[in-house]
Amino acid sequence: MLPILSGAPWLIAHRSMLGINQPYKVTLNGQDYVLWQNSNGEISALNNICPHLQASLADGWICQERNTITCPFHAIEFDGQGRLYQNGNFSTQAITEPLELTVIDDYIWTYNGLAAKIPISSLLTRITKGFEFIGVAGIKSIKGDFLSNLLINYDYNHQNGTHRESFKIKDVAVSDYEEQGYTTKLSQTITRDENTLQEIINNPALLIIPKKFTNQFEYAFPCLTSFIAQIPIGQIIQIHALYPETEAQTKTFVMLFGRFKNTIIGSFLKKSVLKAADEIIRQDTNAIEKSYKRSIPKIRLPNEEIMFYAEKLYQEW
Ligand SMILES: [Fe+2]
Repeated sequence: MLPILSGAPWLIAHRSMLGINQPYKVTLNGQDYVLWQNSNGEISALNNICPHLQASLADGWICQERNTITCPFHAIEFDGQGRLYQNGNFSTQAITEPLELTVIDDYIWTYNGLAAKIPISSLLTRITKGFEFIGVAGIKSIKGDFLSNLLINYDYNHQNGTHRESFKIKDVAVSDYEEQGYTTKLSQTITRDENTLQEIINNPALLIIPKKFTNQFEYAFPCLTSFIAQIPIGQIIQIHALYPETEAQTKTFVMLFGRFKNTIIGSFLKKSVLKAADEIIRQDTNAIEKSYKRSIPKIRLPNEEIMFYAEKLYQEW
C-alpha cells in the first residue's frame, strides 16, 4: 500500500505497552515490525519478517544475554541493528532492516522510515507535566480507514449518540476554537443527565463526572487527540493515539493521566477511569465498524467545521 500521510510522525506505543524482554508487534502502513524493550529500557525495532524463511519474529522470544530476538521457526537470532547472530558471532552487515524510532520520555515515535514532513509534537511532554501516569486503555485495532477514525475524534456531536448510553450526555457546547496549522484547540462544556444506581455500580468513574463539566481539547494532527477534564476532585487527561495499520485497519490506544486533590480517592478511581476509556473506545469502534462507506453529507450539524478542517489537513497533506 502507499503510506497514509507519508512523513507524518506516528506515536506507535507508550513504553508501558511493551513490557520487558517481550516481542511487541506493530503494523504501520501495511508493514509489520517487532519491537522489544530490554531491562535497561533500551528499545529495538526490526522488520517483523524473518529474512530466512519469512516467519513472524514477534512470535519468537528475546535472548536477554545478547539483547536479540529469536525467530520462532529456526531459533536464529537478530540484534536491534538487524545483524544475524550465529556460531557465537554477529554478522558484520545487517541482513534485515531496523525501524528507526524516536523515543521521547515514555513515548515511542516513528516516521516509518520515511522522510519527516512535520516535527514530532511537544504536546505529550507539555500537557502531562505534574500529572501521574494512570495507564493505557482502549488498545484496539479498528476495522475502518484512518480518516474515519480521525474524524470521530473531531466530531463534537457524536457524543450525543455514540456515548449516550454510558455518559447520558444532553448537550455539548464548543467554544474558544483556535486553529494553528496542525494544532487545534477548543473548550467543550458537557451537560449530562442523572445516572441510575446500576450505571454507577457498573462504572464508578461516573461518580466523579459532574452534571456539567469542561474539557480542554488540544489536537496534534494527525495522530494525537488530548483533553483535560476539569472535575471536582482534580483533573484527568486522556490522550488518544491513532495510526494507520493498513488502508482498512486503524490502531488506537488511550493514555490516561491524573492529578487528584485527594490521593486516596484518586487511587481508588484509577481502575474505573481505565475502564471508562475502554468503554469509550468500544463505543467509537462500534460506530465506525457499523457505518457504511462515507459520502457527501446532506445534513450539517453545529461545529462541524472543526471536523472538516481536519479532513482538509488530511486531503491536502
Ligand atoms: Fe467518541
